[in-house]
Amino acid sequence: MITDKSDLPSHTAFIMDGNGRWAVKRGLPRKMGHREGAKTFRKIARHCKDIGIKYVTFYAFSTENWKRPKEEVDEIMRLFGEYLEEAEDFRKDKTRLIFLGDRSVFDEKLRGKMTELEQASSEFDEMTLMLAMNYGGRSEIVHAAKSAAEMISNKEIEVKDIDESLFSSLLYTGGAPDTDLLIRPGGEQRISNFLIWQSAYAEFYFTDTLWPDFTPKELDKALEEYASRNRRFGGV
Ligand code: FPP
Repeated sequence: MITDKSDLPSHTAFIMDGNGRWAVKRGLPRKMGHREGAKTFRKIARHCKDIGIKYVTFYAFSTENWKRPKEEVDEIMRLFGEYLEEAEDFRKDKTRLIFLGDRSVFDEKLRGKMTELEQASSEFDEMTLMLAMNYGGRSEIVHAAKSAAEMISNKEIEVKDIDESLFSSLLYTGGAPDTDLLIRPGGEQRISNFLIWQSAYAEFYFTDTLWPDFTPKELDKALEEYASRNRRFGGV
């Protein structure tokens, strides 16, 4: 357990991988794995808050995930809707909510709920929880580039004003700090188009544990490993 808060990452991100395999191993339909994964998501988010991590991001649905069977996509969307309905908990928890990704594909009701929750929680600062839904890192960068171009054409900024700090403020993650620690359960060792700008200097933690089996205890282990690493940011 980390006792010195300065050893904690400011921003920890999770790729929630392995739900399908978790279910198949038990002879269950894949969607049951997502259901279990959604429970793990809640448990891990709570643990992050309890130990004092300020920013957490979870990858729930990528722009490529639409290729999955309809039954599976429908279940993830249902779980998303269910989560949005827990709004009162965020107030109680003083957690700020931000949704990352292209939300234009969601119906108006869902989009309205996302905006409402972001606005209602915007003053909360105990923890910021970012949920990536219909998210892709490259498309996020393209989106930010288009925003910068629009600002130029509206004469709000000049080309010379674009620097890393301005550009990163135009990403879906806006004012959040860069990812310090990226955790990927499920056995794969890749970034899969997740937070590619924000993770430029992130530490990676990979584990074979499937996401539904990922526990607060394993998160503590990842955090201990993170605390023991020597981050040099290009220096010596
Ligand atoms: C990847 O595992 C996981 C997903 C594509 C979906 C993740 C979604 C959840 C955990 C539930 C959604 C929760 C909310 C709050 C929206 P996989 O199915 O690709 O695993 P596999 O590699 O074993 O097939």
